[in-house]
Amino acid sequence: MTDTQSSNPSLENLLHETRAFPPSPEFADQANAGPALYEEAAADRLEFWAKQARELVTWRTPFTETLDWSGAPVARWFADGTLNAAYNAVDRHVEAGHGDRVAIHFEGEPGDTRTVTYADLQREVSRAANALAALGVESGDRVVIYMPMLVESVVAMLACARLGAAHSVVFGGFSADALRSRIADAEAKVVITADGGYRRGAPSSLKPAVDEALTGEGAESVQHVLVVRRTEQDVDWTEGRDVWWHEAVEAADTYHEPAWVEAEHPLFILYTSGTTGKPKGILHTTGGYLTQAAYTHKNVFDLKPETDVYWCSADIGWVTGHTYIVYGPLLNGATQVLYEGTPDTPHKGRWWELVEKYKVSLFYTAPTAIRACMKWGEEIPAGFDLSSLRLLGSVGEPINPEAWMWYRRVIGGDSAPIVDTWWQTETGAIMISPLPGVTATKPGSAQVALPGISADVVDDEARPVPDGGGGYLVLSEPWPSMLRGIWGDLQRFKDTYWSRFEGLYFAGDGAKKDEDGDIWLLGRVDDVMNVSGHRLSTTEIESALVSNDLVAEAAVVGASDEVSGQAVVAFVILRGEHAEEASTDEGSARIEKTLRDHVAKEIGPIAKPRKILVVPELPKTRSGKIMRRLLRDVAENREVGDATTLADSSVMNLIQSGLAKPS
Ligand code: WTA
Repeated sequence: MTDTQSSNPSLENLLHETRAFPPSPEFADQANAGPALYEEAAADRLEFWAKQARELVTWRTPFTETLDWSGAPVARWFADGTLNAAYNAVDRHVEAGHGDRVAIHFEGEPGDTRTVTYADLQREVSRAANALAALGVESGDRVVIYMPMLVESVVAMLACARLGAAHSVVFGGFSADALRSRIADAEAKVVITADGGYRRGAPSSLKPAVDEALTGEGAESVQHVLVVRRTEQDVDWTEGRDVWWHEAVEAADTYHEPAWVEAEHPLFILYTSGTTGKPKGILHTTGGYLTQAAYTHKNVFDLKPETDVYWCSADIGWVTGHTYIVYGPLLNGATQVLYEGTPDTPHKGRWWELVEKYKVSLFYTAPTAIRACMKWGEEIPAGFDLSSLRLLGSVGEPINPEAWMWYRRVIGGDSAPIVDTWWQTETGAIMISPLPGVTATKPGSAQVALPGISADVVDDEARPVPDGGGGYLVLSEPWPSMLRGIWGDLQRFKDTYWSRFEGLYFAGDGAKKDEDGDIWLLGRVDDVMNVSGHRLSTTEIESALVSNDLVAEAAVVGASDEVSGQAVVAFVILRGEHAEEASTDEGSARIEKTLRDHVAKEIGPIAKPRKILVVPELPKTRSGKIMRRLLRDVAENREVGDATTLADSSVMNLIQSGLAKPS
């Protein structure tokens, strides 16, 4: 058993779950996917993927080779084909006569709306591509996008793709420092941002963070900042560098010839937290990524482009927004809802109001959101007509059976199939999920590798575990949308994913096979936390804490949390001169606030520790490794587990007596 599995009692419950929900005959009859898909993929995996690539993607030059794995672990898929991602997402639908179809129903948080057809999107993306080209962006360049959830955000990503420039979207909740390090690592030529966006009923600003990021060292590569006007807040302006989006785009021509790139041309870099302090720039390329994005979106969500209204509630700053807001749905010609704001503004029924208003039929969200809605009470969704929903999806973390059942009953009217989709920034697209209409779903399990994907659960010696056994999730065959590396760091790519088990991709997740051989994901087995479906690195937050003068040493753990899955809890040892200050309530409250604000500044508000505990010592093994398992016991108010491998076994007593002291 891994550390994560043994210390998380809520996950133990998962393993006693035995309910199953077979698809209804009506759903199965009309489903895009059938059992034949598994057979086809099993018969000839590479031919299966080649067929998907030919059917779902339009190639400028057809490919003749499916997979070149000679440079493993860097794969080359469909490498001699050429294509353009934006052409595939937009233009070809217009050429096929679907220009009038709505691509995006945009809903701003204040209630403003905008309807964008595929023909509109073609004009906007072409103009934006021309505007970026006028600012010097060329094929092979990198462009950082730091935006709220706006139509322009989607347009900006597609405009980069149209030019053959890689976009690197940085989530708008990240701080100026975090933004600067990503800009520097990618050596971005242009940053696209907005004055701000609406969040929780008020304008929140973005441009000041860009200004701050660009004044620091490391961001010298940036020549221009393109600024979308959304909130009309006052912004500082750097003449010669800053350009208004509306001025540049409105002046640009509506025709733009897409850059036809090779299948392995970089499409985007997306930074994600790893086990060390430095975020990893996950690199995705064009042909394979688009193929699997379209294939999974079509089959896992059962998309019928003429009749469905799809909605994925993710932010484009995360991979889910890339694959299941931008590329997957648009490649398949879907009509989707794009919502700017939070689920509880101006009221807790906002999401369900939108489902009713747009007659959303396919809905994809995260367990943390479902648990928040459960807490708010089922009378809230009950006040809206949700009968249009015919399929529900979940992503980002293990979904507990209770939340799954609630989702099915309250949101899905007891009939909509739920697809619990396991994947990662690195995998680019869904890897493990039930197929709606085929799989009898089980609450809490992602169940089966998709046709064409090979996943397994192995023990410490890389041996597949028998049914009923637990271990580590691995992927045993290359897949089209797999990452092609970590930007600028091939060695780290090999070390992180390919060195744990020879020839197998190590996902970093613990997993179990049940008696039917179905896979249950059990959470991370490394120093990565999952807070509200967002990946955060313990090391990164620890580095942020010790970079503050108050702190001598820090240890961070993810403690189980009812709503967010995990919550960040930090244990800090203060520097000698500050230790005294922490002995009063007032003093420790002040220290806690200073440190929480400091983490927000270094990384972003999402990384702020829920709790910071000042301790005299940290529990360490003889080799100096912090035993986070014991700290997690403290953070979760549990009896502390086996502490015999500690170098100094009295440390835990010291920590607990200190925390228990009457204040
Ligand atoms: C976790 C998000 C259980 C997992 C698409 C993975 C899940 C990490 C699931 C990737 C799921 C994602 N069941 N765990 N259905 N989906 N995870 O890169 O730990 O933000 O390794 O990609 O989220 O997070 P990332």
